[in-house]
Parts: sequence; structure tokens; C-alpha cells
Amino acid sequence: MANIIKHPHIQKRLLDEINSVVPKEMATEDIEEDSLLNMPYLKAVIYETLRRHPPVETLLPHSNPQGDETIGPYHIPKGSMINAILDVGMDENVWPDPNEFNPERFLMKKGQVVEFDENVADITGNKREVKLIPFGLGRRLCPAIAMAMLHIRYYLACLVREFEWKTAEGNDEVDLTRKYIFSIVMKNQLNARVRLRNHT
Ligand code: HEM
Repeated sequence: MANIIKHPHIQKRLLDEINSVVPKEMATEDIEEDSLLNMPYLKAVIYETLRRHPPVETLLPHSNPQGDETIGPYHIPKGSMINAILDVGMDENVWPDPNEFNPERFLMKKGQVVEFDENVADITGNKREVKLIPFGLGRRLCPAIAMAMLHIRYYLACLVREFEWKTAEGNDEVDLTRKYIFSIVMKNQLNARVRLRNHT
């Protein structure tokens, strides 16, 4: 929500996408799962959020107690702990301008149609090269990944469809500084001004 307030053009594009997928006569109904799956920009915004601001920055501790390992060019000495969710998503060899919040990087154009580009990142790591690991990887991959992704899609689509989001009066800066508790939260809470949108 902080980035949506910070980047009004992203909020507008999300709203346009939601309104183009959910028919006007359904504006007062819940958004259906099938509709959510037809929103590539919504998915791109969520992926970019998980890349740039993963809610969990560290995996559960995994180590290689048996002995040294060599994986491709990497030598991993016995007992190493590998914990790099944020670093993977911020690798500038893979993600140009990694600090920038740019959902476009997950999209591609097929003719006039904009689609989510599944080749950019496979967050399960099962099908393609590993470039993003907000839910971990391998046999300890977060078991709730599908449920989490569906709920985030639903909440975000509803929050943007129902409300217009702006910074609170007299507080124009959105401060994205993070704070580690168990998960990562905003150091300074988001002060937002929300206004109910008119669906008529
Ligand atoms: C955006 C939401 C979520 C994110 C980013 C997330 C991320 C993660 C990460 C990074 C791990 C560690 C994986 C590893 O160590 O390799 C994990 C594990 C786990 N997550 Fe999630 N998670 C999310 C939502 C949820 C939800 C909603 C639930 C439960 C309803 C859940 C249940 C679990 C469990 C049980 C594990 C331990 C799996 C194991 O060790 O085998 N997660 N999650």
C-alpha cells in the first residue's frame, strides 16, 4: 500500500485493470477468483512487492552439516548457513535498477495484449532458473504459497477498487525504511488518507 500511495500511476493502472476485468454491473459484488487470475498487472505489482520488500528476509535456518558442497561455481563450506531472500531479489545482474519499484519488469506485450511474463521469475523454483525466493525454495518452500498469493491478490484488488489511497494530510513523504521484528515491517507506520470510491 505504501508503494501504491508513493506511485499514483501504479494505483491508477491497477484500478483501470480491475475495472476492465470486473464488469460495472458487478461493482458492488465480491471480486471472483477467476477475475483475479485475469489481472496481470495486479500479479506484477505483488511480485515486485515480494522482490523489493519481502516480508520475510531470512529462511528457516538451513545448513550443510554433512560436509563441503560445490554447486556450479559456488563452494559452500561445511556448516554454512545460506540466508539471502532479499539479496537474491536485489541482485543487479538479474534485476536492473533493483532499488526501483517497477512492476513493468514482470510484464510482456503479445501484440496489443499485456501479459504477465512467467519467464521473468518462477517463485517456486520448480520450473525455471531461481531469481526470486520470497517463499523460500526446495523441500522447505512455504506450503501456503498458493493461499498467500490468492489472498494478497484479493485484498489488494479490493483495497484499490473500494478506496482511493493518498498520503495523510501534512505528511507527504512515504518512508519505506524497514524494521526487523520476526518478519519485516515498516519502521514508521504508513499514514494514509483513504476515500471511498464512487462506483456509480
Ligand atoms: C506473503 C506471505 C508469506 C511469505 C512471504 C512466506 C514466506 C515463507 C518463507 C520464506 C518460509 C521459509 C522457507 C524456507 O526456509 O525455505 C516459509 C515457511 C513456512 N510458511 Fe510461509 N510465507 C507466507 C505465508 C504463509 C502463510 C499464510 C502460512 C500459513 C497459513 C505459512 C506457513 C508456513 C510454514 C508452515 C512454513 C514452514 C515450512 C517448512 O519448514 O517445511 N506461510 N514461509
